[in-house]
This record gives sequence, structure tokens and C-alpha cells, in this order.
Amino acid sequence: MKKRIYIARRIPQAAVDLIAQHCDYGYWDRLEPCPREVFLAEAAQSDAVITQSVSEKIDFEFLEAAPRCKVIAQMAVGYDNVDVPACTARGVLLTNTPDVLTESTADAAWALLMAAARRVVSGHTLIQEGRWGMWHPFFQLSQDVYGTTLGIIGAGRIGGAIARRGKGFGMNILYHNRRPASELEAVLGAQYRAFDDLLREADFVVMAAPLTAQTRGLFGAREFALMKDTAVFVNIARGAVMQEKALYEALKAGRPWAAGSDVYEVEPTPASNPLFTLDNFVGTPHVGSATPRTRLAMATLAARNAIAVLSGQPAITPVN
Ligand code: GLV
Repeated sequence: MKKRIYIARRIPQAAVDLIAQHCDYGYWDRLEPCPREVFLAEAAQSDAVITQSVSEKIDFEFLEAAPRCKVIAQMAVGYDNVDVPACTARGVLLTNTPDVLTESTADAAWALLMAAARRVVSGHTLIQEGRWGMWHPFFQLSQDVYGTTLGIIGAGRIGGAIARRGKGFGMNILYHNRRPASELEAVLGAQYRAFDDLLREADFVVMAAPLTAQTRGLFGAREFALMKDTAVFVNIARGAVMQEKALYEALKAGRPWAAGSDVYEVEPTPASNPLFTLDNFVGTPHVGSATPRTRLAMATLAARNAIAVLSGQPAITPVN
């Protein structure tokens, strides 16, 4: 019997075509997420599912409902929506899509960093609102990027790619990570710092570590207070690593000086999120990897992972 894959959201067609060449498949061919009951029922009849981190929760209920499903091929690098130990205990393989989204996500982190540092959005808005009055030497002052200190929390693939871009801006690179990042040290001259020391020293604090039990709520009032009053904080990881209310209060008080984030505690974040009332906050709607080329590469890698495992080959990018 042919293996079956369930694709739980519309993905680039080339990846669907690839799946069709190798397996039977079911397809939630819509931009809206698949309702939970449909997802569980389809997964129950499938050997693999292609999932999105923002919508498909892979938990005890899923594993109970879909015992035939042996591969979760996630189209994302993060997998905080998945109970990995529970999958492993049942022999369910999880794959993700690292590498192919690294550079796009690092670009997105830099877009936030530059926009927050140089007040791009507030400048645009003031023109739009007819508030561009008299020029004077203190008009719309912002922060230098070139030649400053970049502090990266989480020196994995994305953190490393963010750091490499910093070299082009003549930056001194600091990092904090669970393990020493010897390649970053050798190639970029990056230096390890204890977490608090990095917060105190960096002009730009960029969070690029995954959401785990250790990083949940990591950035709160204490951490923001350690940063410089000229520092810029950027979150390209997950919303839950920062306490949004604390960030709001900190930005209002001017320490850090500004912040940019692609991610929020609740997504989609509502227009009423107080962060969006602040002139020194800039936000994007969880679009770190959202370019056509990268989304195609992610979908193709997720498909290839599922196909490989269902044909008895090793996964290309396994998590567990
Ligand atoms: C996106 O947030 C991802 O984890 O790939």
C-alpha cells in the first residue's frame, strides 16, 4: 500500500507535486489553518503530516488520535508546538527545516535592527501625518549601527548569520550560548559573555535562541534594566521569550532605547497591543522566513523529509 502524507496547509505547489510523485496525499489546500478535528482525522489515516509551527499542535491528544502517523515533517525551524519527548517515546520522528531559512531570517532580524536604530518607521509616519516641521540639528536623532557592539543570544545558525552581517558594519561581536561557538570566535572574532554581561555591554541585543523551558519569559524588567539606555533589543525568536508588558514599560522609560520584534506572546497580536503605541518600537508580523525562495525551500525540505522516511531512508534534517 502506498504511504499517505497529509499536508495541513497550502504550501508551494512544487512541494505538493513532489509528494504526489511518491505518495498518496491529503491536502488542506487553504491559507486558513486546518480545523483541529479535520487535522486529527486526516492524520489518523496518514503515515506523515506536513505541519506549520504556528498552527498544528503535536501533543498527547494528537499522538493518541493518530497512531499510524510516524513522521511529523514541520515546515519551520522552531518546534515549540511539538511535544518532542512524547513523540520520541512513541517512535514518532520529527523533522524541521533548518539552514534553508537562515539567511532570510537573519535579513529580517537586520531589517528590525536597522529600522529600530534609525527610526525608519517613526520617520515615515511623521511625514505621512504631516508632522515634518522645521529641520534642526537635533531632529529625529537615532543610534549609530556602524562600529558598535552586537550581542547575540543564541549563536546557532540564525544567530551566526546575524553576527556575520555585523562584521560588514564593523561591529564588535559578543554572544551568549549554551555551548561555545568556536567557529564564530575563529571567523568573526566573536567573544563569549555571560548573559548579564552581554546585556550590559551590547549596543544591540538580538534574541535568536529557540523557545524552551529555559528561555520562556527570559527578557523581563530585570533584563531590560541591565541594558544601556542607548541599546536596541531585537526579538527574532518567539514572542514568549519576552515579557511584553515589561518590554512596554521598559521602552516607555527609555531603557532599552528602542526595540524591534517579529514575534509576540499571542499571534496574531491585536492592533491594540500597547507596544504599537510606542514611537520606539517597530514590529513585523512573524515573517522572518517569508520570501518566495525560502518558503519554497522550506516546503520542499519538509516534503523530502517525509518522503525519505516513508521510503525507509534516514530523515534529512531530523530533530529527534
Ligand atoms: C519560524 O518561526 C520558524 O520556526 O521557522
